[in-house]
Amino acid sequence: MKKLVVLTGAGMSAESGISTFRDSGGLWEQHRVEDVATIEGYIRDPELVINFYNERRRQLPTVQPCRGHELVAELEKWFDVTVVTQNVDDLHERAGSTNVIHLHGELMKATSTRSPNDPTQIQTLTPEHIDIHIGDKAADGSQLRPFIVWFGEAVPMIEQATEEAMKADIFVVIGTSLNVYPAAGLIQFVSPDVPVYLIDPKDVPWTSGHRYTHIKKGASAGMVELVEQLKNARA
Ligand code: APR
Repeated sequence: MKKLVVLTGAGMSAESGISTFRDSGGLWEQHRVEDVATIEGYIRDPELVINFYNERRRQLPTVQPCRGHELVAELEKWFDVTVVTQNVDDLHERAGSTNVIHLHGELMKATSTRSPNDPTQIQTLTPEHIDIHIGDKAADGSQLRPFIVWFGEAVPMIEQATEEAMKADIFVVIGTSLNVYPAAGLIQFVSPDVPVYLIDPKDVPWTSGHRYTHIKKGASAGMVELVEQLKNARA
């Protein structure tokens, strides 16, 4: 089977009702990034940051994967698919994708403030236990924090994601403004002869030399068209 790598961003979940970051009305219009999405912001006011993610986490059980998530999962019938997502929601997994790399963490997980990337410190939150409170402790006794990669922190999964991009026979970008590195830099590791597709209703600043097919539609309609276009690539 050919290896198909899909890089997704907030636009992938827009049709599920989850706000993007930089679209009009996006999250960064309602909150200052430096207050709620940086390690400095967390150190300055942990309660504000913990509550910002509690709010976003509480929304998750109320939304469903969109048709786009479902079609990305269906690609596994014909391709060896790896989803590399910047999203912290669990919608790719809930739609049935079985190989998802979360570059920016996962909303339904919590971890240690002292050693956030120590696997022994990572806990899975449940709809019954969905909030984190000041005073909740991780296994190492430090304050429990969201398992989110904030600006200013390392992106531990980028090495694995880069290896996947280098092995891709087909590369698909869905719903990301390609503003944030190192995620946006993954395209640089895709071989120049690999077909690249972009699904986004808007034009996206495209800095790589790769020629690409722009399916200028939303994630769901765009994936319907992509599945059609990939029919003869299945081998
Ligand atoms: N279908 C597909 N794409 C869409 C849709 C849709 N229905 N609606 C909007 N988009 C596109 C927008 O045109 C834009 O290109 O989704 C993209 C959203 O871009 P951003 O809001 O910047 O989200 P993203 O690229 O994922 O942000 C990257 O920045 O704030 C940090 O850590 C956060 O992971 C996030 C990272």
